Amino acid sequence: MFPRTRPRRLRYNQTVRELVAETRLSRHDLVYPIFVKDGPSKPIASMPGQFRHGIGDLPRLATDLVESGVSSVLIFGIPPSSAPDASPAFDPNGVVQRALKTLRDATDELLLITDVCLCQYIDTGHCGLIANGRVDNDATLPVLAKVALSHVEAGSDIVAPSDMMDGRVKAIRDALDGAGHEHIPIISYAAKYASAYYGPFRDACDSAPKEGDRKSYQMDPRNAREAIREVLGDIEEGADIVMVKPALSYLDVISRVRDAVNVPVMAYNVSGEYAMIKAASAQGCFDEKAVVRETLESIKRAGADVIATYFARDIAGELDEK
Ligand code: PBG
Ligand code: ZN
Repeated sequence: MFPRTRPRRLRYNQTVRELVAETRLSRHDLVYPIFVKDGPSKPIASMPGQFRHGIGDLPRLATDLVESGVSSVLIFGIPPSSAPDASPAFDPNGVVQRALKTLRDATDELLLITDVCLCQYIDTGHCGLIANGRVDNDATLPVLAKVALSHVEAGSDIVAPSDMMDGRVKAIRDALDGAGHEHIPIISYAAKYASAYYGPFRDACDSAPKEGDRKSYQMDPRNAREAIREVLGDIEEGADIVMVKPALSYLDVISRVRDAVNVPVMAYNVSGEYAMIKAASAQGCFDEKAVVRETLESIKRAGADVIATYFARDIAGELDEK
């Protein structure tokens, strides 16, 4: 007889598989990124199924999202124009600030998270201010703090700085605390890699740097230990949730970060990762729904507690409530 040293039968029955599943996706794990702008909504060619949402259409979107089971959104603004001082980013009447008010009026069932960065709002297209051809890290910090504060004053529940400047979490924490917003959490894009997978996003926001690239402030894809240093530094500065971005080429980083910290870990399943799955399923390569589920489960299995994904709207309704 074959020696039964392992519980092989656990695989054979659906109910048992559910009992012993190590990973379970819930709709509450997912954050849906949205792009907001003035004027009419427009589809994003490189991200089939995603839109630049006109502010006028946001009340309808909010209702649809809640009905689809989406519980959180991550808001990116596409301003009508940029400026050398990035002022459209902290304008109390800016596109994100107005979108926040509109969404807040439309529903109280959506958690509103805002991306804090300068790249869509500044003439150079870089995430920080530029001086003498270089990113001026320290001069950028007060500007980011102003942006975060203006988001919170317009109704943001959580701010998420994505610029990768050193010291930004502390600068934002101090500004929020100083204005009585101690309760507002910060999600830090702590390990954000200089990735080619952001292509469709930059197309959607028209936010590619006009000159150069982001390699001087985003992380080198070859480094994983550096991610741990970044994450620990941001936690020390006051980050409540730390993010690894992108997700799929960095599952090892998610896993290592998970082991190194005791705060929630978030992963960003970015635009290029979305576009790849959409393109392959449009070619009939595979069953999109099954691949999306397997992909998100792999990110969660690697250690992410929260996943930002453009698939959230499609899949939320099919997931566990808890
Ligand atoms: C920039 C920013 C980027 C993304 C979110 N915020 C990319 C970049 O560095 O240009 C990418 C998101 C995605 O690809 O889905 N602050
Ligand atoms: Zn940026």
